[in-house]
Amino acid sequence: NDNINNIIDHKLFTEDDIHAMCVKLGRQLTTDYAGKKPLVVGALKGAIFFLTDLVREMDVKEEIDFLDVSSYGDSLESTGKVKLISDLVTDVQGRDVLIVEDIVDTGLTLKYMKDLLKKRGARSVKCCVLLNKESRRRVDVEIEYYGSTVHNEFVVGYGLDFMGYYRNLRYIGVLKAEFIKLANNK
Ligand code: PRP
Ligand code: MN
Ligand code: MG
Repeated sequence: NDNINNIIDHKLFTEDDIHAMCVKLGRQLTTDYAGKKPLVVGALKGAIFFLTDLVREMDVKEEIDFLDVSSYGDSLESTGKVKLISDLVTDVQGRDVLIVEDIVDTGLTLKYMKDLLKKRGARSVKCCVLLNKESRRRVDVEIEYYGSTVHNEFVVGYGLDFMGYYRNLRYIGVLKAEFIKLANNK
């Protein structure tokens, strides 16, 4: 049945844990982007909650835009091909761009975005990622800022989905084993 307790094995990060990570990253970014006017680029859809919380911990004159990229769609394994679903509105030429992501798994999505924005002439392209699933990396991509590493477990909530659902959980939880068996990835 649809009760969330039948879906989640245990909480990995509580609302307080997530808030603390946002505060810490926000402070660091405030220092590093002082005097700049960065363009913060959220990767739809997973990054929406992290982006809104993170920018409110940043005392920086920033703009926000969104890119919708997908390598998974509703499937559980990365297809290995990243698709640009919808583009930025903002011209990134000469801008200091900060990509915000919920999770980096194989790294394919992040690498695609970084390469695209550099190619378009951004002055700098860095990223701030909430969860870094290092053990799954397939491409070499630098992660300048991240909240925490995670093991190879399927995590949901706070933007992270399973088949499109559970993004709206306030915490981040690990999917129960029966789902993880099906999933075998992020
Ligand atoms: C997920 C996640 C990252 C990406 C990480 O997005 O939000 O963007 O996959 O995987 P990778 O490092 O292997 O590329 P997804 O494609 O599921 O789209 P969504 O954000 O809309 O859920
Ligand atoms: Mn995503
Ligand atoms: Mg997804």
